Amino acid sequence: MEIRLILEIKECRAQDVKLLEQWTPSGRSQTHARRFARQQQGVSTFLIAWLQGLPTASGELKWTGCDAPEVREAFPDCPELNGLQVSPASARSQGIGRTLIGHAEQLARQRGCGQLGLGVDDVNFRAAALYLRLGYTETGCHYTD
Ligand SMILES: CC(C)(COP(=O)(O)OP(=O)(O)OC[C@H]1O[C@@H](n2cnc3c(N)ncnc32)[C@H](O)[C@@H]1OP(=O)(O)O)[C@@H](O)C(=O)NCCC(=O)NCCS
Repeated sequence: MEIRLILEIKECRAQDVKLLEQWTPSGRSQTHARRFARQQQGVSTFLIAWLQGLPTASGELKWTGCDAPEVREAFPDCPELNGLQVSPASARSQGIGRTLIGHAEQLARQRGCGQLGLGVDDVNFRAAALYLRLGYTETGCHYTD
C-alpha cells in the first residue's frame, strides 16, 4: 500500500507561533515570534510547511533582503529566504526543503522579483550543495550573520 503525505505551505498565523515554539524551541531569542512580527509589519512572509498537521519546516522570506548592508548594496531589490529549517532531522532529505524553496521562489516571482537570495554557512556543505543543485549560484559575497 502506498501512503501519500500531503505537505501544505502557508503563511504563519498568530496561533502557529506557540506551536512552532513547542515543536522547535527558539528559547530566549524568540525567533518565531520575531519572524511573525516582521510578517505583520509587511517586511517579510514567514512560511510554514505543514506535514500531517505538524509544522515540519519554516523559512522567512525577507522582502527587504539580507540584513547585511554590504549584501543589500551588491544585490538591491533581491529578497532573501532566511532561516530555512526542516525539523525534526528525520524529516530531512525527503524534498521538504526543496518544496519550501520552490514556494518562496513562486511568491518572489509574483512580486516581480527576478532574483532570490539564500545565505549559507561556509561549513554547511549539504545545504550549499542543495542550493547549487536548484540553480543558485555562488556570489562570492561573504558576510557575518
Ligand atoms: C538544508 C535543509 C533545509 C534542506 O531541506 P531538506 O528537506 O533536507 O532538503 P531536500 O530533501 O529538499 O533536499 C535534500 C538535500 O538537502 C541536503 N541535506 C540533506 N540533509 C541535510 C542536513 N541534515 N543538513 C543540511 N543539508 C542537508 C542535501 O544536499 C540533500 O541531498 P540528498 O538528499 O541527495 O543527500 C534541511 O536539511 C535542514 O533543515 N538542515 C538543517 C538546517 C540548515 O542547514 N538549514 C539551512 C540554512 S542555510
